[in-house]
Amino acid sequence: MTIDPASLFGRPTPRIDGVAKVTGTARFASDEPVANPAYAYLVTSRIARGRVTAIALDRAKAVPGVLDILTHENAGAAAKPPAGPDGGPTTTTLESDRIWHDGQIVAVVLAESFEAAREAANKVDVSTAAEPPAATFGSAGAETRPHRSREGPDPGKGDADAAFTAASVTVDARYATPTQHHNPIELFTTTCVWDGPRLTIYEPSQFMWGLKNAVAKQLGLDPALVRTVSRYVGGGFGSKGSAGARTAWIAVAAKRLGRPVKLVPTRDQGFTIATYRAETQQHVKLGAAPDGRLASFFHEGWEVTSRPSDYAVAGVDVTARMYACPNIATAVNVVHADRNTPGFMRAPAEAPYMFGLESAMDELAHALRMDPVELRRVNDTQSDPVTGLPFSSRSLMQCYDQAAERFGWGRRRAEPGTVRDGDWLVGYGCATACYPTNIAPAAARLSLTPDGKASIGLAAHEIGTGAYTTVAITTARSLGLDIADVTVRMGDSDLPPVSVAGGSNNAASTTLVVVKACEEMRGRLAAAAVAAQDSPFHGADPATLTLSGGKLMGADRRSEPLGAAIGRTGGLLEVHAEHVPAGLPAGAMAGLYQGKVSMSRGGGRKDVAAFSFGAHFVEVRVHARTREVRVPRVVSAFAAGTIINPMAARSQYMGGVIWGLSSALHEETEIDAASARYTNGNLADYMVPVNADIPSIEIILVPEADDRVNLLGVKGIGEIGIVGVNAAVANAVFNATGKRVRDLPVRAEQLL
Ligand code: MOS
Repeated sequence: MTIDPASLFGRPTPRIDGVAKVTGTARFASDEPVANPAYAYLVTSRIARGRVTAIALDRAKAVPGVLDILTHENAGAAAKPPAGPDGGPTTTTLESDRIWHDGQIVAVVLAESFEAAREAANKVDVSTAAEPPAATFGSAGAETRPHRSREGPDPGKGDADAAFTAASVTVDARYATPTQHHNPIELFTTTCVWDGPRLTIYEPSQFMWGLKNAVAKQLGLDPALVRTVSRYVGGGFGSKGSAGARTAWIAVAAKRLGRPVKLVPTRDQGFTIATYRAETQQHVKLGAAPDGRLASFFHEGWEVTSRPSDYAVAGVDVTARMYACPNIATAVNVVHADRNTPGFMRAPAEAPYMFGLESAMDELAHALRMDPVELRRVNDTQSDPVTGLPFSSRSLMQCYDQAAERFGWGRRRAEPGTVRDGDWLVGYGCATACYPTNIAPAAARLSLTPDGKASIGLAAHEIGTGAYTTVAITTARSLGLDIADVTVRMGDSDLPPVSVAGGSNNAASTTLVVVKACEEMRGRLAAAAVAAQDSPFHGADPATLTLSGGKLMGADRRSEPLGAAIGRTGGLLEVHAEHVPAGLPAGAMAGLYQGKVSMSRGGGRKDVAAFSFGAHFVEVRVHARTREVRVPRVVSAFAAGTIINPMAARSQYMGGVIWGLSSALHEETEIDAASARYTNGNLADYMVPVNADIPSIEIILVPEADDRVNLLGVKGIGEIGIVGVNAAVANAVFNATGKRVRDLPVRAEQLL
């Protein structure tokens, strides 16, 4: 199969679900109507470490309308412990009396109304035996261990120590990034409905088949009996990528009551019943020759995790691949504390670790008295510095050059603190964005009806990225139809599986399987057409027939309406296609049906390294007296292979840049060291930018054709936008003030 991506993609296309979303008819999981539901309310722990010694339910049960209360004592055996985001062990909830972290679920109250359940939940008396908790790095009782990577050893080569010692210019610095929470606007809801042995779960999810299989496993059910439904997701960002602690218990509750149960947790509970981005500490050492060429690269990270989990994002795997360097050493450590298990949050590894690297690169440029863009240029490379494999494509410097030009980087003054505009100190900064290209197996079902309309179904995920539209574009263009002639169904495990909407893989994974399904459909139509005596194509080579403009077309311009071609095929109008990317193990598709993720960093191929790249340019203004930081202007350029829908891509990148500004200047979940409880675990106290904080953001789409990464050259754009923005801001703050902030977020008090 040879496809020219340019024939399919690149035209700005409004979202097909846009009207449904802005008119409120798009149905999110907790909107699904169920008959006669009972309402659940979660009781959560007020201590971070210890055991539940007794739970008194009398006062709660006296609340009118209360139906049942699940605790570890009366329900704990009904579900097995869940797996963590990395598939390994994680914290438990009602499975035992153990309390691993603040805000852990310790009881589930069920009542006739939400209000009754909430009132009763406040009357559940939980007695605990508390132990002193370890909150974070440096807390007494926190245990630091080397991270045992599931993807092989930490990247390294040569002798980084010796090269660092010998280098003429060096940077040796420590950086820190804070705890952050996803705060999706759609809450972590779950509705469970039993129909005899069959369970339907309505829950916002980034992985329909993963959730289905995970809950089946916890409940000891045949996965075929479990269906998950989530047609739209109101923000996930990784927090809805793996099964959470609550789902199995809502299923257990519905079974016990013999009626549907609906849970809509509070926004505050979202801080402790779902995952988060763990705080990191990083040590970066760079050694360079006087011309800027790197001689030594060292990056070590520390990440907080829960007591039982080894989850770590291990971003050195990416930072070690950014710049040419003969001597590389990296390491990652996990710090076990009395915390919930962290998890994926948009660019999980890259957002924190590229802050360390790109800050250090800026420090090195300053030490070398070199332009930061030129430092990236002399260290640019077309092959992976660790493995030596060629990048499938790498347009990093094109991104730098186009964005620098547009931004007016040439006006930058290298000497910090020298540009002033009235009361404001002005600074410019830049940094690299990158994200590995991932692709996963996927399956899809395509059908054509005699009226020439297509229906495509696959259990992909609309997490706000425009996934429905991506699938519609691909199907319509592949079949020569209008987008209006295509119906897309997603977000339902009754449809063929698609891997987790994570790692920015779904655009590549879904378009490839859809193209395959459409090609198979074309092949069937063509085969029937050349075989039929009464067909204008009788006897032609089926490979020469194409679909275009609602017609089956021959090479010699003969054509017939699609309806006639369909009519000839008898019962062959439905195609089930499966696509397994090159380089993935043979069992990858079977594993997907079992809810397993087969997706390697850097794409499926073994003979190339695959990343998207970008460059951010930021202007900051720091008030000379108050040290308030404003960002009037950002210009970012990205090259991510084939762009399916430039309209959606631009908005996706822009959203990423906005979140990057948030990461630079606002976001931090703060923890009380003594109690290991969050002190701002609510959206009112969790700082995020508002419209007034978001300036002009210009996005440049740098064209890039990549015929090696996959058949369509699609690299994925979901996460790269956020990466590096925090460093670009901190670098601009240094340029404005001469103050180097190495501990995010940048706040006025650090600049006094
Ligand atoms: Mo993304 S954090 O891989 O959902």
